[in-house]
Amino acid sequence: MRSIIAFASCAILLSCGSGQKKGEADFIDENIEFAHAQIGKAIEVIETSGKFLNPTTLKPDSSVYYCGYADWRSGFFPGSVWLLYELTGDEILLSLADKYSKGMEEAKNLTQHHDVGFMVGCSFGNGFRITGNPAYLEVIVQAAKSLSTRFRPVAGVLQSWDVDRGWMSQRGWECPVIIDNLMNLELMFKATELSGDSSFYQIAVSHADRTMAEQFRPDGSCYHVIDYSLEDGSVRNRHTAQGYAHESAWSRGQAWAIYGYTVCYRETGDKKYIDQALKTFHFMQNHKNMPEDLIPYWDMDAPQIPNEFRDASAAACIASALYEISTMDLPGSQEYKEYADKIMTNLASPAYRASLGTNGNFLLMHSVGSIPHNAEIDVPLNYADYYFLEALKRKQIIENQ
Ligand code: GLY
Repeated sequence: MRSIIAFASCAILLSCGSGQKKGEADFIDENIEFAHAQIGKAIEVIETSGKFLNPTTLKPDSSVYYCGYADWRSGFFPGSVWLLYELTGDEILLSLADKYSKGMEEAKNLTQHHDVGFMVGCSFGNGFRITGNPAYLEVIVQAAKSLSTRFRPVAGVLQSWDVDRGWMSQRGWECPVIIDNLMNLELMFKATELSGDSSFYQIAVSHADRTMAEQFRPDGSCYHVIDYSLEDGSVRNRHTAQGYAHESAWSRGQAWAIYGYTVCYRETGDKKYIDQALKTFHFMQNHKNMPEDLIPYWDMDAPQIPNEFRDASAAACIASALYEISTMDLPGSQEYKEYADKIMTNLASPAYRASLGTNGNFLLMHSVGSIPHNAEIDVPLNYADYYFLEALKRKQIIENQ
């Protein structure tokens, strides 16, 4: 892995475009250099093992948890390696990103949950965007076909979770849809673009529209779970699973909504989607409990604020979405970039960014998986790292313009 570390200094050359403010260039370059070195260490562990390991989070004993291909988080580490390849140009990362993506390729056939969009989009989606490899295209379209099996026409939505096993079977739901599901729609839009089959696009639009109608409160915040009747498509209840309470604002859910509807606007040009993304963003921005550093509490209504855990993953996802929004032809685009910049400055500070070789070689500390399930509390999460790198890449492009 020597070249991965050695190449880090070359990254400094890559992002110093003319006209770019030096402070911004230094920030980007320093973060690329750190990510290159830190992920280089994770790669060293994987390559030394001789197996395909997929770093996900830390276990309670502080060892790294490596997930299998069917875990909803299996695309984030391969995706991070793709993004790091783009940020550095390190050719070794190109072959590793391909290898790690192929290590979880079987996810394209999963039909028992909705997460195939996260999984295949972050891995093969980035791979196809970067290389145009037609083999990756096949994987994307197959994944969209698998996801389509979860479309429930009576309600016009993609069912997120099955209800016949695990803790989901204990909630009395029929057809639960979680706000996270908006993040799977990008795969559907891309699959139509790549295959010419418009059914994926139609499902995505139907899901986005019904979700907008049912899953949001008048203040712009969203519920986590909407349960639909499979008999007549009506809403049976509005719940939470990972938030503090049914009526609270679970922060990562708000982040998924902001990011998800930004993608829907990009892919369809329908303004109602960006209006929703911005309404939810403004809800978070103006929330009385939003901390000064803009890294949200895990739930904005958690009862012990300010003594509650933060969720760096929500912050990174919001920053990445805001960079994209700032490039759209919308009023106030500079304001969105400045907000994202502030998040990134704070995530990259010692308060959230790990020191080299610590934190299980993950980039960011202080995320929350699910407090109600007593799982992954105040830990690194591979999706926090993924959206941090994506935001960094988007910032680099903006600064170089
Ligand atoms: N999609 C699961 C989560 O956000 O934790």
